[in-house]
Amino acid sequence: MSPSLKLGMPDGTVGWAVESPEAARDSIHRRPFNIRHELHNNELFSLDALRVLSSEIQLRPEDFYFDAGPVSISDRWGAIPVPKISLPELIGQMETSDAWIIMKHVEKNPRYGAVLNEFAEFIWGVLGPDMARMLQNPEMLVIINSPNRITPLHFDAEINFLIQVAGNKSVWVCDPTDRSVVSERDLERYYSYSDFGTYRPIAEEKAVRYTLAPGEGIHIPTHGAHWVRNGTCVSVSLSLNFEFPTWVHRDFYRANNFLRKMGLSPQPRGVRPVMDRMKSASVGAVDYGRVVTKRVLRRV
Ligand SMILES: [Fe+2]
Repeated sequence: MSPSLKLGMPDGTVGWAVESPEAARDSIHRRPFNIRHELHNNELFSLDALRVLSSEIQLRPEDFYFDAGPVSISDRWGAIPVPKISLPELIGQMETSDAWIIMKHVEKNPRYGAVLNEFAEFIWGVLGPDMARMLQNPEMLVIINSPNRITPLHFDAEINFLIQVAGNKSVWVCDPTDRSVVSERDLERYYSYSDFGTYRPIAEEKAVRYTLAPGEGIHIPTHGAHWVRNGTCVSVSLSLNFEFPTWVHRDFYRANNFLRKMGLSPQPRGVRPVMDRMKSASVGAVDYGRVVTKRVLRRV
């Protein structure tokens, strides 16, 4: 890969690159594309530094999760045992614990926040101002995996960049528009009940496999079902992600879920674009009404 675009921190210690900004703009939200970085040379992301960081994150229970034990790609989230151990202790045992750790909102620490800011500026610069407006609220998550650990099949609402810092892994990614893998009902349930999707064997026939080594990363499109198998060493990855404005996906699928609960069979996305916008707007208006009502009631 010969990077054609590269930005970096003023001290030159962090850099980002994509092979072709044009190809990245064409692929975003549609299909994976590669991204290069230098975070594997950054001490902030060594296991020792992350263990120190984990003591800070452990004080925010909503910002971390871990589990440990054998996993297959069809296992559901939340069904894997959670060991009774502290987060820093588990990081010290990753070689042998068959564990998966995720630390969220790592950017709350200013040193990590600076790395995220630099990445967000890079991606917004690659995509240009119109597309950049659709990538809101950047977040840094750190994911640490034991050797050979699997992350089960799921899909995400965020615009995700999986960045490999240490170890190797394989990532299988499905077409985000393939409704034989992720159905309209799956999307409605995701946005209404935080249900992370249903495993269907056809996903394994349709997925494309990508491999990641330190210094490499990949864009995983929103709603694209994916799963991960770690290599033979402890892996450190970052999920650098952004949120869509709620009217793009969330409000539409919540509206369809509501209609389905009423006994109707709502049209999927794209069949009637004007109606799609009206559905999204109606849920957005209800949400806005709730916010205004809460504010008024607080003053009464
Ligand atoms: Fe994911």
